[in-house]
Amino acid sequence: MAGDEIVWGILGAAKINDKVVVPMHEAPKCRVKGIASRSPEKGREAAAKYGLAVAYESYEALLADPEIDAVYIPLPNHLHVEWTIKAVEAGKHVLCEKPIGLDAQEVERLIAARDATGRYIQEAFMVRTHPQWLKVRSLIDAGAIGELRAVTGGFTYHNTNPDNIRNQSEFGGGGLLDIGCYPITTSRFIVGREPGRVVAMIEQDPVFKVDRLGSVLMDFGGVQASFFYSTQVHPYQRMQFHGTKGRIEIEIPFNAPHDRPTRLLVSENTSAGASTETWLEIPACDQYGVAAATFAEAILSGGAQAIPLEDARANMRVIDAVFRSARSGAWERIAEG
Ligand SMILES: NC(=O)c1ccc[n+]([C@@H]2O[C@H](COP(=O)([O-])OP(=O)(O)OC[C@H]3O[C@@H](n4cnc5c(N)ncnc54)[C@H](OP(=O)(O)O)[C@@H]3O)[C@@H](O)[C@H]2O)c1
Repeated sequence: MAGDEIVWGILGAAKINDKVVVPMHEAPKCRVKGIASRSPEKGREAAAKYGLAVAYESYEALLADPEIDAVYIPLPNHLHVEWTIKAVEAGKHVLCEKPIGLDAQEVERLIAARDATGRYIQEAFMVRTHPQWLKVRSLIDAGAIGELRAVTGGFTYHNTNPDNIRNQSEFGGGGLLDIGCYPITTSRFIVGREPGRVVAMIEQDPVFKVDRLGSVLMDFGGVQASFFYSTQVHPYQRMQFHGTKGRIEIEIPFNAPHDRPTRLLVSENTSAGASTETWLEIPACDQYGVAAATFAEAILSGGAQAIPLEDARANMRVIDAVFRSARSGAWERIAEG
């Protein structure tokens, strides 16, 4: 590490880089040095586009650069574990895109690699460090809606491009791993504990052989959380938290804009028996920049991570149980241990 700064490298000229790389470069205590692509020409184009100093000739060349402290991995889902392990074995810290693995077993391999190398590994669930989610959690913890009893939500888009990694089963495609994972991680974050069991219904795309529509109910013991997701429905995203004395709704829970405030609708009972509705504004911020800065700060301080791998494993155990339930048609318990 060069003093008090984390030097980043990017593996792969992915589309998501358009949202991540510049905010990461501009984030406190962060500098993005370069990007690697399987195609050197594509790598040079990407480096020029983001104003980066270096286009590496291969992923291996980037991992061999001793100046790189941390690697951001936006590869297709089936490559996350393989390249995260290669990166930590090369001495790098890793911020890897969600889902960090294809199932909980894969996250176990990452935990073993982390423990063997002493490097930091984090799943890039940027929503978890966005101030709007921290605000919802603090409001609910402070009793703003009374006792939390139910969570509802949805996350959808429409994408039938056969070339997209989301529509390719061998790349870890499908809606649950791509977007269903967000209502799961945020419900777990807000409720503050793990669900004991889940029941789910999932529809497969007959051509792509990936899940394109799903409905999930999670039993958190006293809190019931339900959501739907789809890769073939008109775009929508919303999360609501319902308590005995009020309700909070997040207007744009997952793709929060970086250039304008985000909003929470807080509805509360009044002493007169009516209810009030107030929009709270959270100042604009770039959630990808915040995620990079938070991860860099943890590395530099040697402190705790916002989302440790144990949390990623817990999220993946819920996902595993959702897939099991969709097959069995029954409630499925979440693995423990
Ligand atoms: N957190 C978020 O907001 C967010 C949003 C979107 C996506 N994501 C995640 O980011 C990851 C990338 O998504 P994306 O839509 O940006 O993907 P993408 O545009 O398809 O990019 C993936 C990149 O991976 C590299 N790659 C290596 N091996 C590959 C292979 N066998 N086939 C295809 N590409 C290969 C390619 O880069 P080179 O050819 O340059 O090597 C490719 O450009 C996914 O895990 C996704 O879940 C996260």
